Amino acid sequence: MEHLFTPYAYKGLHLKNRIVMPPMCQYSVTKEDGVATDWHFQHYVSRAVGGTGLIIVEMTNVEPDGRISNRCLGLWNETQRDALKKIVDAVHAHGSKIAIQIAHAGRKAENAEVPVSASDVQFDEHYRKPRSLSTDEVKLMVKKYQQSVKYAVEAGFDAIEIHGAHGYLIHQFHSPLTNKRADEYAELTRFGTEVIQAAKAVMPEDMPLIFRISAKEYVDGGYDVDTAIALCKAYEKAGAEIFHISSGGEGPIGSRGKPGTHAGYQVPLARAVKHALKVPVIAVGRLDDAQLANATIGNEDADMVAVGRGMLRNPYWALEANATLNKINQQELVPKQYFAGF
Ligand SMILES: Cc1cc2nc3c(=O)[nH]c(=O)nc-3n(C[C@H](O)[C@H](O)[C@H](O)COP(=O)(O)O)c2cc1C
Repeated sequence: MEHLFTPYAYKGLHLKNRIVMPPMCQYSVTKEDGVATDWHFQHYVSRAVGGTGLIIVEMTNVEPDGRISNRCLGLWNETQRDALKKIVDAVHAHGSKIAIQIAHAGRKAENAEVPVSASDVQFDEHYRKPRSLSTDEVKLMVKKYQQSVKYAVEAGFDAIEIHGAHGYLIHQFHSPLTNKRADEYAELTRFGTEVIQAAKAVMPEDMPLIFRISAKEYVDGGYDVDTAIALCKAYEKAGAEIFHISSGGEGPIGSRGKPGTHAGYQVPLARAVKHALKVPVIAVGRLDDAQLANATIGNEDADMVAVGRGMLRNPYWALEANATLNKINQQELVPKQYFAGF
């Protein structure tokens, strides 16, 4: 029977359980240089000690003005790569696997003097007006994503997640609300497709590419899950292999409601993508109740579940969930130093 504590494997990625820590910005770079600090080290390594199957490092950006803020992580130089490598090595030493989310904030880059986007459509009056990237600049941007992915591979990450969700740059290209282009990138999935292809070209054959997508937009006129499934099909064709199903972030909350606050609010979106494409998916969103997380796997709504805020509260969330459920492989999961606690 599929279960939260059964192993999961896809190509060269072998996880001891189905529990994922999703990317969560820490805004904790101290020198505005995009380099991971001691905070990041403690933050990620403690979740490895806590039994998490797969840890996904927060939104890590391909250029300085691609960051939400100057305190976000970057991956455009070797110093940044080497700081991340220390985290990767320590996470591995504690038995977890680790991926990284590669991103560009586009029009949501708050410290960029003039943020760039797929068009000059502003997020809202509180954000700066972006300028539309030229065709050549879009092509250069694809190269920047590729360079960051190359550094991530060199740092030893086990998988790459491309951020196509939450209204950041790739999402800005594939949403008709923000893509007002007249060039070849008017084709909504073209930019994302080229980013995926460029990433795959520098990734080892057996390393999976995870694509995070907002499977529903909440702004007026936003797309729904059927459109998201069509987007995922295009991205799958480009080389995306595992889909991480989130929603929203594309603009101010409009008439179409807002993301739910109830347990498992995005599971129906994950289930829809999984069943339409027959691809592995990660479900996320208020899944921090162990029974619900387990049922999400058992009911085949998703292959993995991510627990975000639950892991901010408790780095040992997976150990607790294991104790609550049927203690499969508890001896192997719980560090011997902590065993008395369980
Ligand atoms: C502090 C914080 C930072 C976040 N940063 C990111 C991020 O860097 N990239 C991303 O795709 N999602 C980000 N998210 C969204 C989470 O990955 C996750 O999808 C969301 O919190 C819902 O899951 P949860 O209910 O388990 O917390 C962030 C969420 C929080 C709470």
